[in-house]
Amino acid sequence: MAIKVRPLSNVIGAEIQGIDPAGDIDDDTIAEIRQAWLDHNVLLFRNVSWTPAQHVAFTRRFGPLHIMPRLANEAPVTLPDHPEVFIVSNLVREGKPVGVRRAGWGWHSDGEDKLVPNMGSMLYAVIVPPKGGDTAFSNMYAAYDALPDRLRDAIEGRRARFSRAELHPVNYPHLPPLTEQEKRDRPDVWHPLVRIHSETGRKSLYVGRWTVEIEGFGKDEGKALIRELSEFAVQPQFVYRHRWRVGDVVLWDNRCSQHCAIPYDDEKHERHMLRTTLEGDIPAYGTVRSEVAEAA
Ligand code: SIN
Repeated sequence: MAIKVRPLSNVIGAEIQGIDPAGDIDDDTIAEIRQAWLDHNVLLFRNVSWTPAQHVAFTRRFGPLHIMPRLANEAPVTLPDHPEVFIVSNLVREGKPVGVRRAGWGWHSDGEDKLVPNMGSMLYAVIVPPKGGDTAFSNMYAAYDALPDRLRDAIEGRRARFSRAELHPVNYPHLPPLTEQEKRDRPDVWHPLVRIHSETGRKSLYVGRWTVEIEGFGKDEGKALIRELSEFAVQPQFVYRHRWRVGDVVLWDNRCSQHCAIPYDDEKHERHMLRTTLEGDIPAYGTVRSEVAEAA
């Protein structure tokens, strides 16, 4: 099957043309798509119409799937018949939320606050607002490559602590606080601030909205550096902003990109997206590896 790869910007993202992700795709074509994914970091497939089972089946061609954990507040997180499909939605039906509202409003890579972050994610647009609701993607290889020596020297071989417990109230102020059990299930982790991609061998900057501390730095100094790195990483020259159409599927690589769901008027407009998530590997930079942080 011949695929066509059309870049979406000069820094990140490409559209794959010539296949129907819902159809039968041979292994050679999947290998070509994977290579395009490694080259471009974010892939777009347009005009897809599929069932959750087909969404799951296509994602599985790229690796084992991750199942998002339930939230203690009982709001549904995944489809009842397809626990591999995470629901990002502001829909309310019969007075109940249909999925997780305002998921990903802020720059991050999926699972960055876990020992084993997610390799990739595949988001399918079911309902999109007439205005806004875009998703922006930033290329963390390019951000790393462009770091001034001062910043590169400061972080090379160093790790940062990522904390769901500390930042949940900041990143999800509209959700109930984490329960003690949820905090135990999601302990803080240390990750290398520069990680080496397990397939391409390339270095990328690894920082996001769950980063709270940098080893070897005092609290305030570390926070200032996190802020500087975070702002540096998402400058326009590293970013592609995707304007969704119904039927778009976007597959991104969490090992070398960050993304951000851009806030929109979610009191007025509906947005309903379904996401599958790929299992990943433990980030590493030579002998510097991620590990679970000791409880404070
Ligand atoms: C996510 O972070 O996975 C959600 C992104 C989006 O809804 O645009």
